[in-house]
Amino acid sequence: MRGSGCEGGPVTPPVVVVAVALLRGRQLLAARRSAPSALAGGWELPGGKVEPGEREEDALVRECVEELGVEVRLGERVGGDWPLSPGRALRVWTGSVVEGEPAPLQDHDELRWLSWGDWESVGWLPADMPVVGRLRALVEEG
Ligand code: C5P
Repeated sequence: MRGSGCEGGPVTPPVVVVAVALLRGRQLLAARRSAPSALAGGWELPGGKVEPGEREEDALVRECVEELGVEVRLGERVGGDWPLSPGRALRVWTGSVVEGEPAPLQDHDELRWLSWGDWESVGWLPADMPVVGRLRALVEEG
């Protein structure tokens, strides 16, 4: 019997990529990718893939240590699953730096704290663009 959600055989859970919108007041941290070449030059919210067995929030805290050299505290989720590419979803949290100063240690060649009026001033990767729009609304609501 074919019912809703049963078509097309077994369902593979999406690969989850997590990212953080680090806020400092109304400033947002944007990170410019240096690798892979297909993404180089594009700006993103820092993050990365969740490893097997790892909690999503733990993966995000780990990525911030590895990529930026900072300890972060995560806040609220921003939206639900943002589409990345087929079979991959982006999940985003707000966050703030609790220890250290972010530096581009891995995967990025530049970091920028964007002031409120400049959030759209960088070339965000396609997946991140709508997230930034939602985040603006969230921050505006307070
Ligand atoms: O950082 P990592 O390479 O593990 O991220 C996996 C993929 O997720 C990247 O290749 C990129 O395409 C995508 N990504 C994104 N926006 C983010 C974080 C990751 O599009 N904020």
